[in-house]
Amino acid sequence: IPVDPFDLVIFGGTGDLARRKILPGLFRRFCAGQMPDAARIIGAARSDMDTDAYRQMVSDAIDEFGGDLAKECDARDAFLKLIGYIAIDARGETGWADLQEAMKGKGRVEAYYFSVSPALFGDLAERLQQWGMADEDARIVVEKPFGRDLETARDLNATLAAYFDEHQIYRIDHYLGKETVQNLMAVRFGNMLFEPLWNSQYVDHIQITVAETVGVGGRGEYYDKSGAMRDMVQNHLMQLLCLIAMEPPARFDPDAVRDEKLKVIRALDPVESYEIVRGQYQAVPMEESEHPGYRTAVGDAKSRTESFLALKTHISNWRWAGTPFYLRTGKRMSARSSEITVVFKDTPHSIFAEDAGRHRNVLSIRLQPNEGITLGVTIKEPGPGGMRLIDVPLDMTFADALGEDGADHVDAYERLIMDVIRGNQTLFMRGDEVEAAWAWTDPIIEGWELRHDVPKPYDSGSDGPTDAFELMRRDGRDWREVSP
Ligand code: BG6
Repeated sequence: IPVDPFDLVIFGGTGDLARRKILPGLFRRFCAGQMPDAARIIGAARSDMDTDAYRQMVSDAIDEFGGDLAKECDARDAFLKLIGYIAIDARGETGWADLQEAMKGKGRVEAYYFSVSPALFGDLAERLQQWGMADEDARIVVEKPFGRDLETARDLNATLAAYFDEHQIYRIDHYLGKETVQNLMAVRFGNMLFEPLWNSQYVDHIQITVAETVGVGGRGEYYDKSGAMRDMVQNHLMQLLCLIAMEPPARFDPDAVRDEKLKVIRALDPVESYEIVRGQYQAVPMEESEHPGYRTAVGDAKSRTESFLALKTHISNWRWAGTPFYLRTGKRMSARSSEITVVFKDTPHSIFAEDAGRHRNVLSIRLQPNEGITLGVTIKEPGPGGMRLIDVPLDMTFADALGEDGADHVDAYERLIMDVIRGNQTLFMRGDEVEAAWAWTDPIIEGWELRHDVPKPYDSGSDGPTDAFELMRRDGRDWREVSP
């Protein structure tokens, strides 16, 4: 269904995110017939270029990052006609009169995407107001990092709140736009099967792994000031944890869902230092030139920033008291694989002989790649050998189960931008959620700083330091294998 006509202004319109994700994503939605011909997209950035040059840049970005659909779609010229460009200075006066002129005329959705450094959020918001564009219909979209601790996040929230109401602010966590992440809610709240068992009485533990094969690449300067905790755990892993652990919201609407997520974050126990393992990847001899170690990549031979984190936490509420949650994420690991695993408890009593073996049900929800859900069930080993038990997976790989449509899913950014236009905030973070997440991570990070904690080295291409495995083993548990 096409969305209503809209004007979308992308501040930072020549930047990396715009070229990689936002513009190719918009093109894909255009090709899918979801964007009306009357839509307008205005790139705004400091570079002094004309509209034709910007359209050429957009077209190049589509070639480079648009994927197969973008190659097959022959509507490129029609799409480029929707695109304009204004050279603008966030902190000065240049370009604002032109933008104001371009945005004249009412009755359309107006969205302003702040694809710029958070240091400029306040300036942009203020300018929009000065030039009369921060009206009731305006929506702003902001990207992470949303602060680097509770204090800076509060400041940012307060700055934006000076010009915009909460219902106008769309804070992106692109994990919430991923197909399977939403499927998590569909699986939990669309089936009778799981919810009755979804608590500490039946669940032994839950583990969430987001493993990446990439290193910090060219983002060393940003990453070294952040580390895995700020870059991945405070936002993406926290959101996954919320969706897996939250109470059923009364409705699938933005505040109902976000209220429930917030309760989870606020119920998280502080993490003790022995329940957390930090790691930093190092180069493997012979591969160093191709895959430099972390410290070489960020250009600081003494860096103490973690590129890997494994931790154990608890949610202190009626549903989850007693069930540990293990979270793990890292760069330069053995495979790109994001998975949430719910490991159920043993049956209370086995009627089979000792040597039949005992097995547990394991529900694993794979976010990427090969999106799908697998439920491990215990059955009798076939054959005449008596009653022996084995585990078999009930496998629902979405691409197999849903055919073409299952494989050809919408990129997270495409979905989220369309939600901005539709005015649906369900998949965006509310200000209080972000603050609560920082309130949980701040003391952990402060603890490392106080102790001058040095992350444990791990080999590139491995699954983190041995201590991360020990974290599970001493509880008599194991991480699931990281498999592509
Ligand atoms: C970003 C982080 O938010 O998410 C990156 O800043 C990380 O460091 C990326 O690589 C992972 O996203 P995805 O969609 O590739 O899993």
